[in-house]
Formats: sequence, C-alpha cells, structure tokens
Amino acid sequence: MQSIARGGSTVSRRSFLAGSGAAAFASQQISAAAPGLSLTPEDMKWWRDARFGMFIHWGIYSVLGHGEWAQWFEQIDVREYAKLAERFRPQAFDADAWAAAARDAGMKYMVLTARHHDGFCLFDSQVSDFTSVKTAARRDFVAEYVRACRKAGLGVGLYYSPLDWRFPGFFLPGIYRESAEAMKKQTYDQVRELLTNYGKIDILWFDGGGDDWLGFGGLEYWGGKWHSRDAKQHYTATPLWEPEKLYRMIRQLQPKIVMNDRAGTPGVDWGGDFHTPERKVGQFDTERRWETCDVLAESWGYVPNEPIRSFRNCVQLLVQTAVNDGNLLLNVGPRPDGAMEPHHVRRLKEVGEWLKRYGESIYGTRGGPVHSGPWGGVTHRDNRLYVHVIDWVDDTIELTPIPGKIVAARSLTGREIKVEKTAIGIRLTVPPEDRQAVDTIVLLETDQQVA
Ligand code: GLC
Repeated sequence: MQSIARGGSTVSRRSFLAGSGAAAFASQQISAAAPGLSLTPEDMKWWRDARFGMFIHWGIYSVLGHGEWAQWFEQIDVREYAKLAERFRPQAFDADAWAAAARDAGMKYMVLTARHHDGFCLFDSQVSDFTSVKTAARRDFVAEYVRACRKAGLGVGLYYSPLDWRFPGFFLPGIYRESAEAMKKQTYDQVRELLTNYGKIDILWFDGGGDDWLGFGGLEYWGGKWHSRDAKQHYTATPLWEPEKLYRMIRQLQPKIVMNDRAGTPGVDWGGDFHTPERKVGQFDTERRWETCDVLAESWGYVPNEPIRSFRNCVQLLVQTAVNDGNLLLNVGPRPDGAMEPHHVRRLKEVGEWLKRYGESIYGTRGGPVHSGPWGGVTHRDNRLYVHVIDWVDDTIELTPIPGKIVAARSLTGREIKVEKTAIGIRLTVPPEDRQAVDTIVLLETDQQVA
C-alpha cells in the first residue's frame, strides 16, 4: 500500500485521504454543483458571433526573444531574470496600433497577457513590485491596451496566469505552504485589481490555475521518495485552490465576463464559459463553447525570424474552427520594443481583406448542420448555409441532407456550381477553374431556418 510521510510519521495513503483529506474532498463535492456560474446563451452571443480574436503574448521575456517559457527552459535564476525588467523599455509600444492590427485582421476581440507564469505584471498592482509600473518602463500597459481596444470597438480580454514561478509554494505546496498560500492570495488580489481598476472587461483568459497546478500538478512525496502525481490523482492537500470561490468573486465584479476553463480543478463541475483546445482545431461541437488558440508564428512570446503561417493557412484555420462551431484566438508576439512585426501585421491584414469579402460566411454563423471533414464544412445563419470547401479531395462534394428545400444556390467565390439532390443527400460540383485554393464558398438558401 502506498504511504505518505507527514509530520515525521508515515500514514497510509488511503487513511490520509480519508482523514485530513476528507475536508478537501467534501469541499470539492460541494463545488461540483457550481450553480449560477455559467453565462446565458444571450450573454455569450457577442463572443460566439465574433468568431475571431487576437492573442498577444508580451512581457519582459520578449527582451530575450526565446518565448515566454525562457526562464523555465533555460533555468534562469529568479533574481537574474528579474533584471530583465530594467531592460524592458518598450519605446514603440502603441496600443492603438495593436488594436488597429486586430481590427484590420477582421478580429473582434483581443486577449493580452496581463501576467504570465514569470509573475511580471503589465499593470499596476498594489500587491507586487514586479510590474511595468514600478520598473523601468513606468507604464501601465494594461490601462493603455484596454483604452485602445474600447476605442477600436474590440472586446477587451485579459490573460492571467494564477501560477507564478517565483513562488516555491507553486512547486512544493506542502512544505512551502506559506508561499503557496501567498501565491494563491496574489491571484485573488490581482484578479480583483484587474477586474476593478479598468472598467468593463469582456474576457478573462486563465492559464495554469487550479489545484493540479500547485506542485506543478506533478510532485508529491510518499513512501520515502518523490513521485510524479498521476494525472488522475488530484491535489487534495492544503492549501486548496478553491476555484469556485475565485469564480464567484469574478462574477460579482464583472457579472458578464466570459471566462475560460483554465483556473479550475478537476472535480469541480464548472468548466468555464468555454474550453480551449490549444494548437488544434476543436472537434465539431455546437453545445459546449470552445475557442482554439494557436500561433501566427511558431511561438507565443517573441522569437525573431520565425516562419509564419501562409495566408491560405490562416484562412483555412479560421474556416475549420467556424465550421466546427468554435472561435479562433490567433496569437502574435510583439517585439520587446512593443511593435508588432510588420510582416505579421501584413499577413493579418490579408486575412482581414478576405473577411471583408466573405465575412458573412463566418461572423454570426453557427457551425454545421453538416459535419465537417477534410474537405471543409458548413456554417449557417437563418436560412442560409455556407459550404466551405478548403480541399477538393474529390471532384464533387457529397453533403448529408439538410433541413428544408434548397430554393437558391450560388457561389460566393466563383461563377458556376451544380447542386443535385442524391439518394443520400446533396452533391455539389464546381468546375476546376472556379475552385479556390483557399476556400470555395457556396451559398445555399433553403425555405426554412436551418437550426
Ligand atoms: C501554452 C504555453 C503558454 C501559453 C499558452 C497559451 O500553454 O505553454 O505559455 O500562454 O499555451 O494557450
């Protein structure tokens, strides 16, 4: 039987969980119901209709140009790393330029890393000195960013990492309990600051919260040695993260804020307002809201000279998320001086130009009703279906039946199309010269609402 060393004595793992751990389980069970946290479909509508947002990873790690995990991967001492704050003087930072880049890309909201795992805040915090206001930059970038988003009519989103690598209690919460408690308190305090001092915030994007991140979701000591915790064996010791308490505080401060699923604890039955497939297109799902987050270049935080996605690849990624009924949060990592790479901005603008022409087939649509495939998929709004063909895997595209009768059909991207009813559904034919390399869009109008 496994055993856990605790206070000098060794107890069996089972009795440990049944004893002092019982309170922890009880609190998780109470949390399991988590009523009243979810937004209504009406509250979520703007976000679902928006479809496309900009993710920005930017902080003192940008100075190194090795991405936002540089400190971790290069094992940079916390005090050494902190010196980067003195080199972080972003002369070219212009929040309006960021917002313009997002708007020109056809994006409807933005999410900025207010604080990543290194603990450095891009905002004014009363509970930390490790902020852009109290170090060389002497600016509250979050304040400038929020103003710029609003002015540009974009939804305002903030990314916040509850975990913080400066706290030993993050790694070993059991023996550095005070530190773990302090890290937890910092999260509550800073989330409160972010949601109190900047007016209405539309999206809160957590990353790396919850009990399984205490102790890196990994290390625990029992049977006389260190073990990595089984993914199914959740952290139940002290301190507990109490995500529900956090969520409730957030709902009180910003009742309509849209929250993701990355501050929770397995066992608490509230997975945020949406979930977050990372670097992959989410599965077709019209019930549970989701947002794919992915990168324009290869890394999240700034790395110079990385190849970026082609225009075709960007559009196809957006189309694939839309036909599967999700959103796309596409990331750019601005330079340490605060400017976005001009070729990133140009690429995004190309996507925006495409959306100006074909946005009706993306914005405000729902995915389906026909399931997507390697060839593409379908979006719909009212009685209109937009068939997106991104890969002509065959000369014809066979769709399963759709509700109602087709009363009109035309191509948005070319001229000729042929639509036939078959025994199994609908067959679509587009002559090769009318097919598009990026996306061939066929509009089908039916005599009734699609869904
Ligand atoms: C990954 C990265 C993290 C980044 C996040 C965005 O989890 O490790 O640094 O912020 O993706 O989704």
